[in-house]
Amino acid sequence: MTTIKNDANWWKTATIYQIYPKSFCDSGSKGTGDIKGIISKLDYLKLLGIDAIWLTPVYQSPMIDNGYDISDYYAINPQFGSMADFDELLAQAHQRGIRIIMDIVVNHTSTEHHWFQSALGDKSSPYRDYYIWKDPVDGGIPNNWQSKFGGSAWELDQQTGQYFLHLFAKEQADLNWENPKVRQEVKDVISFWAEKGVDGFRLDVINLISKQQDFPNDDIGDGRRFYTDGPRVHEFLQEISSAVFQKYGSVTVGEMSSTTLEHCQQYSSLDNKELSMVFNFHHLKVDYPNGEKWTKAPFDFQQLKQIFNHWQTGLNGKGWGALFWCNHDQPRVVSRLGDDKQYRVESAKMLAASVHMMQGTPYIYQGEEIGMTNPGYQSIEQYRDVESTNMYDIMVNQQGVSHEDMIAILAQKSRDNSRTPMQWNNEAFAGFSQAQPWLEVAENYPQVNADKAVADPNSVFYFYQRLIQLRKEIEVITTGDYQDLYPEHNSVFGYKRQSESQVLICLNNYYGKETECLLPSEFDVSKAKYVLGNYADLTESVSQHQVLRPYETRIILLQD
Ligand code: GLC
Repeated sequence: MTTIKNDANWWKTATIYQIYPKSFCDSGSKGTGDIKGIISKLDYLKLLGIDAIWLTPVYQSPMIDNGYDISDYYAINPQFGSMADFDELLAQAHQRGIRIIMDIVVNHTSTEHHWFQSALGDKSSPYRDYYIWKDPVDGGIPNNWQSKFGGSAWELDQQTGQYFLHLFAKEQADLNWENPKVRQEVKDVISFWAEKGVDGFRLDVINLISKQQDFPNDDIGDGRRFYTDGPRVHEFLQEISSAVFQKYGSVTVGEMSSTTLEHCQQYSSLDNKELSMVFNFHHLKVDYPNGEKWTKAPFDFQQLKQIFNHWQTGLNGKGWGALFWCNHDQPRVVSRLGDDKQYRVESAKMLAASVHMMQGTPYIYQGEEIGMTNPGYQSIEQYRDVESTNMYDIMVNQQGVSHEDMIAILAQKSRDNSRTPMQWNNEAFAGFSQAQPWLEVAENYPQVNADKAVADPNSVFYFYQRLIQLRKEIEVITTGDYQDLYPEHNSVFGYKRQSESQVLICLNNYYGKETECLLPSEFDVSKAKYVLGNYADLTESVSQHQVLRPYETRIILLQD
């Protein structure tokens, strides 16, 4: 039996696996995943070699936003199981040396939460001040701030005539962090889970919690500059951190929406005053021309490299970042930046290597480790995501975008692309459930599934397994500094990591055509060796002149 080692910095050499429970594994025939399903797959995760699971919300919720609308922070949603199932998951994971990180959503609650239910329609409720209420301006909405899911960020409370703020769906009311009672509730919630033995927390959109208190109209944007990395956000995080995270030694990762490097240096500063590490999303906007997500567009390769360079050099020695391509809000990376047909396996491996060899903590989203793809839905009826259906309505019914164009955009950008059921085997419903799943399985499951991947030593799965091991074996991956070797190259993203005793180079061809590059002349190829690649025939000796085949990746190590 493995147990959890008592090492405060464990997460610096760790790889974390994200589970979206609704789509992971159904232990019965409901068509939705559950906690028992997760327990049944722990040995699979152990084989992959991950150190921790980030579990997206399993709390009581009306599921308007699949659990990111919490109605009771102290209860498990019966759809996922019981508190006893959760305790069992925690114990079983710990027995295998796997830690559990809970998702905490405290920018907002569900409007079904009893705090909001009491506050709604009653200005004298003790919970009224838990939320953000404003009087109408000129008989209408208080300002022009937009919800991230489309439309105004304000919703009218008919009974009192005031509006409440919701930066996401109208069923997700923003909490008023200015109120110390709200901050106390947050500490109580987190302490409850920490007391259970949970190892850490992922904090949902945590850089949006402090709003500029005059709530100004935004003449040049959608309002985000008045609440993103807001005036008191660092103070609030320090308060929660010293009261709870530091007390329990919890690892923390903050989801930072539209943030900056300077703020992230502070959020994740090495003195641990706020959070352990941060997610930022700038590298996942390289296919948003002019910042517009709802378009069908190729990705900008040069911009991708510049963003990685900015963050890798900017966080080094100052903070700590999460390394990732995929999560439950992002399309599948192999469909997005790779080739999900002819070079599915090669490009999935190349993309994995190109982030796993950077500094930070890698996150793998369920199914990424077997190279799962976008499903390519053809009809709006196949979508379930509140953001996707809202945007369809706004763009087709209000803005006149054609149905066909919007279907093509959703097939590229919708969050449901990553939420399709995990493909376990080639049986009905990909072995995810015995019943029709809540969201349709991608049609390629007979070829792309976990059983097949585990049986094939050359699969994407074993490549990820190796990447996870390398992080533990090769010190420079954690500690080394970072340099882009070919900032001008049209198809190679190649970087060098260097520490006192090791140099590691990671070369990646991002395209389906052969290309070449030269290793730096000071790099002594006679002492170098290949540690991993995605083509079987890498020769023993490393040459200065590198010819990279379609989507080829090569990891090269030089050590004294
Ligand atoms: C985060 C979550 C996303 C959710 C949103 C609102 O971005 O990852 O799924 O919809 O926050 O809670």
